[in-house]
Amino acid sequence: MKTILITGGAGFIGSHVVRRFVKKYPGYKIVNLDNLTYAGNLANLRDIENEPNYEFVKADITAGELMKVLFKKYRFDGVIHLAAESHVDRSISSPMEFIYANILGTVNLLNAAREIWTDHTNKKFYHISTDEVYGSLGKTGFFYENTPYDPRSPYSASKASSDHLVRAYNHTYGLPTLISNCSNNYGPFQFPEKLIPLAIHNIKNNRLIPVYGKGENIRDWLFVEDHASAIDLIFHEGKIAETYNIGGHNEWTNIALIHLLCEIMDRKLKRSAGTSVNLIAYVKDRAGHDLRYAIDSGKIQKELGWKPSLQFAEGLEKTVDWYLANEEWMKNVTSGDYQKYYDNQYTKR
Ligand code: NAD
Ligand code: TYD
Repeated sequence: MKTILITGGAGFIGSHVVRRFVKKYPGYKIVNLDNLTYAGNLANLRDIENEPNYEFVKADITAGELMKVLFKKYRFDGVIHLAAESHVDRSISSPMEFIYANILGTVNLLNAAREIWTDHTNKKFYHISTDEVYGSLGKTGFFYENTPYDPRSPYSASKASSDHLVRAYNHTYGLPTLISNCSNNYGPFQFPEKLIPLAIHNIKNNRLIPVYGKGENIRDWLFVEDHASAIDLIFHEGKIAETYNIGGHNEWTNIALIHLLCEIMDRKLKRSAGTSVNLIAYVKDRAGHDLRYAIDSGKIQKELGWKPSLQFAEGLEKTVDWYLANEEWMKNVTSGDYQKYYDNQYTKR
């Protein structure tokens, strides 16, 4: 039996990856390591938490010695590293948390792997990253695997640093590494600080939908389960030391996306057409707001045969249905200081 460490498995993307691996690979033992920040939530994994090939370990990747102890104890065969601070706005207000979790945390895992994995045969250290490391595009063009790094927010700079360190450990110590850089994900279990679940939550509760700047920034959206399927493929079939870009070829301006979401929400909530768009509020732009991200995912498509399974309209409907059917989940994650935080944000702008 292989033992696979998945870090950040209680978060949004991590929970989909953990679920997929636990269900699809009964011959793997999946160890989910997460320190349960505001974004980590064991309720994301209720349906698989009692599976015999699943174990949760509450631990912080910034604790370097502990990572080595855990590598010794569990003898991991592979690592899929997702744990990170992930929200650009929070990185602007609290950059140090991103430096600790994303850079120091990644180095601690690399050091544990380097020290404990004396034999690299059949070992893999797979680091999950973002397309934001490539910077911002103008109106045309795409990010390719060889696009020079040009991160522009504390979040993307911390992820770029961790990517460089993963490559450095491969080059210097021969650690068998893999990296993928993915575009914006959406789907069930995403914390309502990111655009899509935040807008769904606000529309549902008749709160304003904050649109940064003019709403003309462009993101390339991918359904989270399609990201999980790409991660599965890269982990098993990817070439060691390589990087793979993952994206949906699905570009939307924020304002067009919000209009589509308003239309879906009006229909699902049986409100008259045009009700939700009245909630749109243009607010102060994000500092250093990247204009456009767009991924060319030709390499993973050609070399590994991956392609996204869902059209955006279908994925968005599915996502809205999930949030509307899971009010209790939303209530839990928005309890405590959540609403106070957002009320303060709005008055500040
Ligand atoms: P998330 O914020 O939903 O989840 C992050 C998880 O990491 C949480 O469960 C949190 O508790 C855990 N974590 C944070 N700091 C930790 C620490 N110090 N020790 C242990 N666990 C810790 O994030 P997400 O959106 O699921 O993103 C997962 C990964 O994918 C991140 O590395 C992110 O950079 C990358 N990524 C995200 C997107 C996206 O659109 N969300 C796109 C591309 C890449
Ligand atoms: P977000 O979901 O935070 O992802 P990222 O910054 O990693 O791309 O934001 C997606 C886009 O939506 C981005 O251009 C910022 C914008 N945005 C808003 O206009 N309003 C909001 O309330 C949020 C959270 C984001």
